[in-house]
Amino acid sequence: MKKKFYFGRVKSRKISRIKESSFKKYLKTKNIYRLNSKKKLILEIGIGMGENLIYLSKRNIKKNIIGVDPFKNGMVNVSDYCINNNIKNIYLYPYVFQKFINKFKKLRFDIIYVLFPDPWPKKRHNKRRIVNEDFLKKIFAILKKKGRVFFSTDNLDYYMNVRTIIKKFPYIKVKKINKIVTIKTKFYLKAEKKGNRINSLLFSKN
Ligand SMILES: C[S@@+](CC[C@H](N)C(=O)[O-])C[C@H]1O[C@@H](n2cnc3c(N)ncnc32)[C@H](O)[C@@H]1O
Repeated sequence: MKKKFYFGRVKSRKISRIKESSFKKYLKTKNIYRLNSKKKLILEIGIGMGENLIYLSKRNIKKNIIGVDPFKNGMVNVSDYCINNNIKNIYLYPYVFQKFINKFKKLRFDIIYVLFPDPWPKKRHNKRRIVNEDFLKKIFAILKKKGRVFFSTDNLDYYMNVRTIIKKFPYIKVKKINKIVTIKTKFYLKAEKKGNRINSLLFSKN
């Protein structure tokens, strides 16, 4: 049986036919299979509505930025923004990370962002969490030497769990970040509104 990797909704609000078709066109013109991998690469896993991806694209014009997430409203939001604002360095992969990694094993990234992954707070759902030992093994394999990974969550149990797992990777340096790691994404703002403490870690490969 095929393993399930995604437990959320692929669509939250209706997407207009026009946006849907320009999204399809965007995927064809900014074809990820033809991306220039000689440029520096940034990856975001679980882009949500894509605020960070858009922000990064403007701050890193010479780098290629890849966003991976099966959530279609976010993907369409980003493609729409790129079309209307002439942004050329964003590539979108509208499927789960587990599929992405199987197809793009050979890419090497300078920076990887995993911001506010679904927390799955109930104990019985903990195994749905995307950040686990296998996930970390996979992202460290595609991370360049001296590359960096930013991880943020407002779920304390998730954070503590990642801190424990990371001990299994002696070649990874871990630093606790006490300030915001990038802009305030939708889920950063949600956590802030709830008064939740946000914990962030920076992993770097020696
Ligand atoms: C809680 S949201 C956070 C979104 C965004 N990073 C933010 O900070 O606002 C988690 C995101 O991870 C995505 N996601 C869940 N499972 C995923 C998977 N296996 N691969 C890629 N993205 C995934 C969800 O669709 C959702 O957009």
